[in-house]
Amino acid sequence: EIYRASTTAPVNIAVIKYWGKRDPKLNLPTNSSLSVTLSQNDLRTHTTASCSPSYPSEDTLLLNGSPQDVSGARTQACFRELRALRKELEDKDGSLPKLSSYPLKIVSENNFPTAAGLASSAAGFAALVRAIANLYELPASPTDLSRIARQGSGSACRSLFGGYVGWEQGTAQDGSDSVAFQVAPASHWPNMRAIILVVSAAKKGVSSTTGMQTTVATSSLFSARANETVPRRMKEMQEAVQNKDFESFAKTTMVDSNSFHATCLDTYPPIFYLNDVSRAAIKVVEAINAAAGKIIAAYTFDAGPNAVIYYLEENEKDVAGLFKVALGEKEGWAVQRGEAVQANSA
Ligand code: DP6
Repeated sequence: EIYRASTTAPVNIAVIKYWGKRDPKLNLPTNSSLSVTLSQNDLRTHTTASCSPSYPSEDTLLLNGSPQDVSGARTQACFRELRALRKELEDKDGSLPKLSSYPLKIVSENNFPTAAGLASSAAGFAALVRAIANLYELPASPTDLSRIARQGSGSACRSLFGGYVGWEQGTAQDGSDSVAFQVAPASHWPNMRAIILVVSAAKKGVSSTTGMQTTVATSSLFSARANETVPRRMKEMQEAVQNKDFESFAKTTMVDSNSFHATCLDTYPPIFYLNDVSRAAIKVVEAINAAAGKIIAAYTFDAGPNAVIYYLEENEKDVAGLFKVALGEKEGWAVQRGEAVQANSA
């Protein structure tokens, strides 16, 4: 007999960045962060988890058709936590099938090309954790699942909710209070849009995991960012979302991206995620905002050169339209359009 469950999880793009760990094993961050969930029509991971006493004895994971290594500490932590919760249920109710003792087979597909160079670990771990939780019929809340997914990849905890999602850094040493929470559902601000400017499909030079550890160890700007700047901006950003104040949302998004990349440059050896095309995209956003006489577009960059541009639907022509004209035809550019916060999971 084979037991099976499927789910999808969306990609999220932070507007207040997670960069720095106080505990690299549990992925406990040095600051809280906040993200916008992208539409699952555009960017999501679909995952089926199954288990069976008749499966070969090893757990397996297939991503877009190719076998992945599951022996890493992060994947193992997710498997272990979920199995332990299932085991509790089985111990309470002896009639339940002993799924916790069967090998797992996980099959994941991204609906966006891996070649797009987008970080997919967030959607990937969020979908993996929820698919197994569904398979095991765990009574776990999205908050509980965010605590587990965080151990797979920090940013994954934010993909367990839809809309505007915060990740509370927490203070507990065991990570019990380092969980995601919903700031507002997508429907609260339904005209928010995002486009992703794929500057380079190449795999990033320095992984976020390695990069942030080096930043914590060497950057002199880092502690001010983590302890003063981000806590202030978390408040501003939550207010901006609550009030649907795009100018404030956009400004805070851009300055926080710049601050994160400044600490990268201040890392030794320095980390460069932005390239000339990324900087050209920043100039285009500045030109769009100058022409509009107010802020109607915001850029943000993760650990790579690709830009995510946020704007409101009513400014589609002036923002996405202009990007397509200015850059869409240049070699090396692809503009992928996403409805930033629609069709969320939670
Ligand atoms: C720049 O979540 O990929 O995208 O916890 O080591 O897996 P690990 O790191 P990861 O880092 C994401 C960094 C970021 C900012 C963000 O998403 O908040």
